[in-house]
Amino acid sequence: MDFKQYITVVDDFPQNGISFKDITTLMEDGEAYKKAIDEMVTFARNRDIDVIVGPEARGFIVGCPVSYALGIGFVPVRKAGKLPREVLEIDYGLEYGKDSLNIHKGSIKPGQKVLITDDLLATGGTIEATVQMIEELGGIVAGIAFLIELNFLDGREKLKGYDIYSLVSYDD
Ligand code: PRP
Ligand code: MG
Repeated sequence: MDFKQYITVVDDFPQNGISFKDITTLMEDGEAYKKAIDEMVTFARNRDIDVIVGPEARGFIVGCPVSYALGIGFVPVRKAGKLPREVLEIDYGLEYGKDSLNIHKGSIKPGQKVLITDDLLATGGTIEATVQMIEELGGIVAGIAFLIELNFLDGREKLKGYDIYSLVSYDD
């Protein structure tokens, strides 16, 4: 399946000069969404994953169905102030902007094999921060799966040494 056909490129959103890759049109198509998730499920199965971690908000759209398909847990990474119990917190940089991310302490058990999922690898800042938190909790990042990779932002460079999968990639 040519997944790019289902992703809409929106120029100058959310600000001038950004070419936004909109996955909502892929999600609107049940067959395309399912097939995209199935690719992630296959990637996860081959790595014997114990738990999925996904960053708010679009990481949930990708990670939760993978978690359901495998019958394993899903651990949310959320923006500051959203998780009710004790958290690890880390600041990170975005393609446009800055924020901080939280994960519940104790949500990953030491030695668990983790698959991180998100819709998009841009600068890699979100996932670099997510990796750092998982490792601080004692988890092993056994794979990282994206729907989309933006090659020109070199996010892969930040995540060197990790097993990265992306469904489609863009050169601009
Ligand atoms: C977007 C996207 C990725 C991240 C990629 O999330 O969903 O999580 O940016 O950028 P990076 O590789 O440069 O870190 P965003 O924080 O915009 O919010 P959302 O998922 O809540 O829409
Ligand atoms: Mg996101």
